[in-house]
Amino acid sequence: MNRASEQEALPAGRKWWHVSTVYQIYPRSFCDSNGDGIGDIAGITSKLGYLKSLGIDLIWLSPIYRSPMDDNGYDISDYQDIAPEFGTLADFDHLVVEARRRGIGIMLDLVVNHTSDEHPWFLESRKGPGNPFRDFYIWRRPGPDGGPPNDLMSSFGGPAWTLDPLSGEYYLHLFSRRQPDLNWENPAVRREIYKMMNWWLERGIAGFRMDVIDYIGKQVDQGLVKDGPRLHEYLQEMNRRTFGRHDILTVGECWSATPGSALLYSGRDRSELSMVFQFEHVTQQWDEIYGKWRPKAFDLVKLKSVLSKWQYALSEDGWNSLFWGNHDLPRAVSQYGDAAGYHSQSAKMLATVLHLMKGTPFIYQGEEIGMTNVPFTTIDQYRDIETLNMHRLHVEAGLSPEDFIKGANQSARDNARTPMQWNAAAHGGFTKGVPWIEVNPNYATVNAEAAMTDERSIWNHYRKLIALRKTHPVIVYGLYQSWLDQHPDAFVYSRALDRDRLVVIANFAPHKVQLTLPRELANPGTCLIWNYEPVDTLGENVDLKPYEAFAILCEMRE
Ligand code: NOJ
Repeated sequence: MNRASEQEALPAGRKWWHVSTVYQIYPRSFCDSNGDGIGDIAGITSKLGYLKSLGIDLIWLSPIYRSPMDDNGYDISDYQDIAPEFGTLADFDHLVVEARRRGIGIMLDLVVNHTSDEHPWFLESRKGPGNPFRDFYIWRRPGPDGGPPNDLMSSFGGPAWTLDPLSGEYYLHLFSRRQPDLNWENPAVRREIYKMMNWWLERGIAGFRMDVIDYIGKQVDQGLVKDGPRLHEYLQEMNRRTFGRHDILTVGECWSATPGSALLYSGRDRSELSMVFQFEHVTQQWDEIYGKWRPKAFDLVKLKSVLSKWQYALSEDGWNSLFWGNHDLPRAVSQYGDAAGYHSQSAKMLATVLHLMKGTPFIYQGEEIGMTNVPFTTIDQYRDIETLNMHRLHVEAGLSPEDFIKGANQSARDNARTPMQWNAAAHGGFTKGVPWIEVNPNYATVNAEAAMTDERSIWNHYRKLIALRKTHPVIVYGLYQSWLDQHPDAFVYSRALDRDRLVVIANFAPHKVQLTLPRELANPGTCLIWNYEPVDTLGENVDLKPYEAFAILCEMRE
């Protein structure tokens, strides 16, 4: 969607997507229209009314392209066609039109660090040195011992190099061996990618989410994967040759991003991206050695310090993305809240804290109804290639299968990938067939139909937050300040714009908490959002119920 005309009406430095809320759809798990057990584009189109009433502005679609589905579509074999299990290009065009009719833009997932091993470029490339496509990928001769050229590892476990018997050389794959990495140093690769991006832009899309985009500048021989020396040069070139001429939202997935590099990606004079997904708030909970498979105990002081650091760092320039979950992460309410004891209160608290910070909020499908991690008990119930690989490697290394499942229950990507729970019918109303992965058994109570009819539901809380962003510029542009940074249970911050001050107070604990606020925060005001009862006057002493959260808008004295 080209929003240039709307943009012209905005004051300098302001963008339409500052006020937007994005909703991420994992197509495979959203809504199955034809009973084959796999979600599809027609299913998404049938739910646009639902999304419109939630109030979101953009949909980010995880990959819908033709793919052998080794990594559920993050392995693309044709960038300009739709996977048959998801539908056709005509279905996609229809989705774009129908979404636009409701004021909703469609963002695509741009997966250009790698392709599928079934992509025609790779099939050609494999034919050997001398083939015009050989340098589309990264090939190296075996190391001195005949093994891989160096010790780069794949994110899905094992070496990042696979020997191709056809030519006796190794190719690089930072993910599965069926996801060979493209060689961005080759200008012909970049030309082809830009051509493809322009083709989608002409179809009227409103944005790109860019998969592991911090990898494209890699210097393999130096063992350098993230933040390579030419990364920003490539992004500026991409911007110039493709979306720079359109007014779209671009967000780069950058696990390595720091506040400093985020300013390079998203600074106003950089001509790169609108914003990045950074993951510091996610990884601060990971074990130094075993990563997410053995998460550390939750530490609110750390979480606050990371989130606040990002708020401060991008307060004058650049822009934050705000998210708790996505298709790779555990369910927000299970990870940061209390899905068993305080399901509704903690899900609403988390939404309040996130949506009232400065940045563009992203909702992952099902988060708005409080979907939870899935209690699978055996490895056969999991589908994700990463989990299946890690299970093999960890069990081979001596971990008991039971302990692996315990970790997977907390961290596996399939927690986020079980089907969307629409109603209390079989399989949560996701499909009339057999779903490709089991539905979370709590669908009888946690489902969209029940949430939409309950005025006090998590869904209605999200709806309110999304609407508040549209009516209160302080939520979009207000200056962020955190308070009580060392408090182990409460998150308190304020936002200030002109004479408006918004104070957000949240209890992250399953017990009552007493706070003593700094004097300057203690003012009467109007409660904009709450998860127990509205609180209109803030005294210096505040008693919070378990997971209580509210936000008060005050007018500051001269
Ligand atoms: C990041 C994506 O979010 C994830 O789902 C995928 O497996 C990897 N990149 C590889 O494309």
